[in-house]
Amino acid sequence: MKLSQARRDFYRRKAKEEGYKSRAAYKLIELVKKYGLIRAGDYVIDFGCAPGGWLQVASKYVGLEGKVFGFDIKAVKIGLPNVFTYILDISSPDALDVVKRCVLGEVNVVLSDLSPNISGVWEVDHAKQIDLTLKVIEMFPNILKQGGNCLLKVFQGPYLDLVRNRLKSIFDEVYLTKPSASRKESSELYFVCLSYLG
Ligand SMILES: C[S@@+](CC[C@H](N)C(=O)[O-])C[C@H]1O[C@@H](n2cnc3c(N)ncnc32)[C@H](O)[C@@H]1O
Repeated sequence: MKLSQARRDFYRRKAKEEGYKSRAAYKLIELVKKYGLIRAGDYVIDFGCAPGGWLQVASKYVGLEGKVFGFDIKAVKIGLPNVFTYILDISSPDALDVVKRCVLGEVNVVLSDLSPNISGVWEVDHAKQIDLTLKVIEMFPNILKQGGNCLLKVFQGPYLDLVRNRLKSIFDEVYLTKPSASRKESSELYFVCLSYLG
């Protein structure tokens, strides 16, 4: 068995044992521990939240004083008192209105693990994923508090610099990272952005 396969199986087994809905949970745990992205009492939005691993992790970090709002084209039932989930296509023209109606006010943290349906054509998947990410970034002035943080999944490719430059112009600190639970052969990376300038 290849090392990458063994690592994938390790996280899948660990998620099952520890009751997480997805192995993606460990990516968020690692990045929150490293960068202090989410604090107790925070309000958090999670775009592309199904099946719900990140919702479970964020729920623990914000505690009962905080709230987590998850959005996905797929329905998610999570059964946690501080987590609220909604069906939404982030590409729909009324996406921002729907988010504002569900969240009622600005949040401290925006998470996005959005992945389009993978076609296998690398350039196409990259462009589609970046398009979803830019839709999230466009919402920041309406949904993210000044001083807030974000975590955005991106697929590597030529548009990465465009995203990086946009983020650098609106956040105090911007890091590009690959958590150890992310498969080596996957082209995904994560932008961790701290302190939104507003
Ligand atoms: C990698 S999964 C997220 C895993 C999640 N972070 C977890 O911990 O379980 C990516 C999600 O993005 C969602 N997605 C893709 N396109 C979307 C869109 N246009 N609007 C909303 N969600 C979308 C998919 O339905 C999928 O559930």
